[in-house]
Amino acid sequence: MTLRDPLQPIPTLSLPSGEWVPVLGQGTWTMGESRRSRREEAEALRLGLDLGMTLIDTAEMYADGGAEEVVAEAIAGRRDEVFLVSKVLPGNASRRGTIEACERSLRRLRTDRIDLYLLHWRGRHPLAETLEAFAELVRAGKIRYWGVSNFDTGDMEELTGLPGGAAVATNQVLYNLSRRGIEYDLLPWCRERRIPIMAYSPIEQGRILENTVLRRVAARHGATPAQVALAWLLRQKDVMVIPKAGRPEHVRENRAALDLELTAEDLAELDRAFPSPTRKVPLEML
Ligand SMILES: NC(=O)c1ccc[n+]([C@@H]2O[C@H](COP(=O)([O-])OP(=O)(O)OC[C@H]3O[C@@H](n4cnc5c(N)ncnc54)[C@H](OP(=O)(O)O)[C@@H]3O)[C@@H](O)[C@H]2O)c1
Repeated sequence: MTLRDPLQPIPTLSLPSGEWVPVLGQGTWTMGESRRSRREEAEALRLGLDLGMTLIDTAEMYADGGAEEVVAEAIAGRRDEVFLVSKVLPGNASRRGTIEACERSLRRLRTDRIDLYLLHWRGRHPLAETLEAFAELVRAGKIRYWGVSNFDTGDMEELTGLPGGAAVATNQVLYNLSRRGIEYDLLPWCRERRIPIMAYSPIEQGRILENTVLRRVAARHGATPAQVALAWLLRQKDVMVIPKAGRPEHVRENRAALDLELTAEDLAELDRAFPSPTRKVPLEML
């Protein structure tokens, strides 16, 4: 593998507020679904924290709150190391519903604050109401920043036109080699406004790992296909990447993806296999 200094800390990027967060974090979807595996999942997250992946992404939706409980176990005694992200379901995102959902999440997470609280996707409640609730939660110190998820360009335009809407800290969206739609307009739109993207399902939940080109590029570097998929995202300095790994070997592998530097030849080959869009593609979600 073409290694940078492996002892380097994880690079950070600045949120619009000026807060620095690591560009490589940890996802938690499907964690907490089985009682049996909760301890190993919390251990995997703790290993990730030890390796510097201190941004943890969760949601009230995951395992009906079970993932937040796993996170609570993982961060017990080390809350201050962690940049904690959680999400409110759109069905709960009324003014009062958002506040109640946040309070339930705080109880499950066994903490007094969520660092970044996202609207999981757009639903029936007016955005303005959700924003009012976010503002109230910030005032009460229950969340530090707020953001959105699965918002396409039109949604972002509408959001940032609302009172307080320009304070959005991130848009968490589906982005990986096989899902490059956002490169046409959403990513440039966010870049112009310095709103960082958080890329979810960065290895397409494992579905792209058998791809021949990905495997060939990986073999050239003595790396794995997952590391190439992550390094491809991480080469963009304003994108946060949140792979989910329940197995310790995956956690270590994902951390090491930061040490993999893709060459111009690798990037060209990946572009041919996974072309960037040449027209608007509506935002996909999982
Ligand atoms: N906002 C949204 O709507 C939304 C939607 C989807 C996801 N997300 C967030 O984004 C996170 C990541 O997305 P995701 O969980 O959908 O998919 P993902 O991170 O692309 O893939 C997770 C899967 O890949 C496996 N894996 C992880 N590292 C690997 C490696 N180095 N080699 C081989 N396999 C590896 C994991 O296995 P093991 O667990 O067995 O290690 C797991 O089965 C989620 O967990 C969630 O926090 C948000």
